[in-house]
Amino acid sequence: MAYVSSGTTDFDSRQFRTAMGQFCTGVTVITTIDADGAPAGFACQSFAALSLDPPLVLFCPQKTSRSWKIIEAAGNFCVNILSNHQQDVSATFGAPGTDKFASIEWDPSPAGLPVIRRSITWAECTVERVEDGGDHLIAIGRVTTLGEMLQDKPLLFYRGGYLSTEHPRVTPAQAELDDFLTWTGGDTWL
Ligand SMILES: Cc1cc2nc3c(=O)[nH]c(=O)nc-3n(C[C@H](O)[C@H](O)[C@H](O)COP(=O)(O)O)c2cc1C
Repeated sequence: MAYVSSGTTDFDSRQFRTAMGQFCTGVTVITTIDADGAPAGFACQSFAALSLDPPLVLFCPQKTSRSWKIIEAAGNFCVNILSNHQQDVSATFGAPGTDKFASIEWDPSPAGLPVIRRSITWAECTVERVEDGGDHLIAIGRVTTLGEMLQDKPLLFYRGGYLSTEHPRVTPAQAELDDFLTWTGGDTWL
């Protein structure tokens, strides 16, 4: 008989959070502009590329997020992918505050959304669809503009703290990358 991994069905939200914190992610700041022209945004690790054709991304805001309400009303947002020089930016946007942009240098994207300086890259998106996700929402966006890319290393978030990569990553062959987002079967994956 095969070995059965032991586990527990009796876990609380702290244990759940600790387990999920073993999954290392990048960090983004999702920004927008409100009806009065003021910038808004929040730090977000639950960002992912979703589809290549059409070009879709997703992120998961808490239902209580003030920035999400502004993004939903605006109908568009900009994903800023943070570099390892921007831990302070993550901390600023990861805490509630009346003027998170006070100490932040940013430039407008083509649609006027905040592009935070020194971000590795950015993507301007329109809100395509929103799904329920328990105490969060799943927001799906269509990418309309891609920003320039810097060669900096990413800021990583792991076990509730920040990390960065020590070495430049090994770039896989282009052929391996081509179907990355549209993989539908077979047993190859990056
Ligand atoms: C590294 C990091 C990652 C985060 N990821 C998320 C996330 O994926 N979804 C979310 O709703 N909040 C996330 N947060 C928390 C929000 O950024 C934080 O609650 C913020 O105060 C929300 O601001 P808002 O009310 O203006 O939306 C994250 C915070 C940090 C520091």
